[in-house]
Amino acid sequence: MPRLNPDNLQRALDLIALYPQPRSALIPILHILQEQDGYLSEDGMNHVGELVGLEAVEVRGTASFYDMFHFEPVGRYLIAVCTNIACMLQGAYRLLEHAEERLGVAPGGTTADGMFTLEDAECLALCGNAPCLTVNWRFFGDVDPEGFDALTDDLRNGRLDDEVPPHGTLIRVRRSVGLAAAGPTDEATPQSAEVGADVDAGPAPHRSTGPAVELSTHRTTTATNVVDAAHLEGRQ
Ligand code: FES
Repeated sequence: MPRLNPDNLQRALDLIALYPQPRSALIPILHILQEQDGYLSEDGMNHVGELVGLEAVEVRGTASFYDMFHFEPVGRYLIAVCTNIACMLQGAYRLLEHAEERLGVAPGGTTADGMFTLEDAECLALCGNAPCLTVNWRFFGDVDPEGFDALTDDLRNGRLDDEVPPHGTLIRVRRSVGLAAAGPTDEATPQSAEVGADVDAGPAPHRSTGPAVELSTHRTTTATNVVDAAHLEGRQ
């Protein structure tokens, strides 16, 4: 599905409506495209370019600046093992070698069943819990080979589906945003941005006529029981 489906197209249009210039919505729309397809296809980027008024080369040139975008299909779970200095000193290369053996792929490779892509990553900013890795941008710290096996078993069997969405989906929380560009202001209710209204908790009081969009980059803190949750909370 190289182009945005109807639901995602509407999300993209809602995002564009938030900004004075449509191109300002480029990055969040690219995240929607990647969430949908698992990577940024040429067709998909062309489509996004049409939506925001940019040439395809401008879309690709911008997207290629960012590590979190992929231009080839990746596995359902992108496992990035940090091998930078703190993790290296704590056994990161032993962990990476074990991951290669366990998954049967080298860094950059994807397992034949399309479940896992393995990456050798630079510092993931979780040095205090070295060696560490991320799975679709969710942190896992103090990972030893046995922990890696347990983690991949959990992922393969769907036991972490609530914590680790596929293909690096960023969105975990619905955010209601009202900006001046989004629509007329209600005089009786001050212009404001309502942030962090949880989907399960229902929408927060909405004081703007702007569209509600899913825009959050909230990262789960419960994906791992080996990382101190309070420590992670401080990172968000
Ligand atoms: S060196 Fe591995 S997270 Fe910083």
